[in-house]
Amino acid sequence: MPVANKPVLFYGIEAMLEAGIKDIGIVVGDTREEIKAAVGDGSQWGMKVSYIEQEAPLGLAHAVLVAQEFLQDEPFVMYLGDNLIKQGIKDFVGEFQRNTCHSQILLAKVPNPQQFGVAELVADKVVRLVEKPKEPKSDLALVGVYMFDQHIFDAAKNIRPSWRGELEITDAIQYLIDQGYEIRSHIIKGWWKDTGKIEDLLEANRIILDSLENRLEGAIDSGSRVDFKVVLEPGSEVINSTIRGPAIIGHNTKIIDSFIGPFTSIGPECLIQHSEIEHSIVMESSSIKSVNRRIADSLVGKNVEVVSTTAKPGTYRLMLGDFSRIVLP
Ligand code: G1P
Repeated sequence: MPVANKPVLFYGIEAMLEAGIKDIGIVVGDTREEIKAAVGDGSQWGMKVSYIEQEAPLGLAHAVLVAQEFLQDEPFVMYLGDNLIKQGIKDFVGEFQRNTCHSQILLAKVPNPQQFGVAELVADKVVRLVEKPKEPKSDLALVGVYMFDQHIFDAAKNIRPSWRGELEITDAIQYLIDQGYEIRSHIIKGWWKDTGKIEDLLEANRIILDSLENRLEGAIDSGSRVDFKVVLEPGSEVINSTIRGPAIIGHNTKIIDSFIGPFTSIGPECLIQHSEIEHSIVMESSSIKSVNRRIADSLVGKNVEVVSTTAKPGTYRLMLGDFSRIVLP
């Protein structure tokens, strides 16, 4: 999934690179081919990327176990591919390297702790971690970035699957606590997001777009208006249209007779014609034509076509993939 036209996973990889990590193993399942196609061998970042197969999504602690051979006995960072941390992880990794604790976890205050692993602290020490508690003991969620030494393998082998059938990393860390190992925690102050849901993905898109600088490398005709904080990638064209930033338009995308509103990412090789769209993400090679109401708060996948027609009969004709959601006025 892209945020400001860059896969969410790349933000994690770049955060690790910035922290000095140059050897990454990516645990893959169903989406292995897409991930391999995008990330490759890591040479685009000057790092080494290996792929580790997880036969089924049996939990994060299970992912640690399948990665044991790759990790050997070295301390490591586990970074969940859908997490975005604006401040990066350099300082946390540096601190873990300087200290002698067995694991370091990051926590963030959230309004909806029930949807995360939740930490209970007593005098700044983590005493209890519970995965998705019905009655959370605090508003401190576990961020999806963890630092471990080799003791985590023993912990992951000694826990049982949770109610959702997964070996939870939260339970493995609780095991470390119960065995008396030292776990350090940090409450992160900056912005953090787990981009698993559309609302969160759109929020991440908003925050990242807002931090971009103007860069206009596409063509803009005299009938168009391009406001502040807009990125036009090379080969893009804006014809008789308005782009109101923050927004990004991918390479070779055409915007014709349209309005692209704030907080919108249009991927590469797209066509937006006679349409208006705001606060949305449109992925590569999609087209939106002659839609007569403004599209908002939407996520449009790859190779999607949205078109409106006046031809009779005036019916909705849909071809929707799995887990699609359409809200009609
Ligand atoms: C996972 C962890 C959870 C953590 C969250 C952070 O949740 O199990 O403890 O708070 O990542 O993104 P999941 O995405 O598996 O629901």
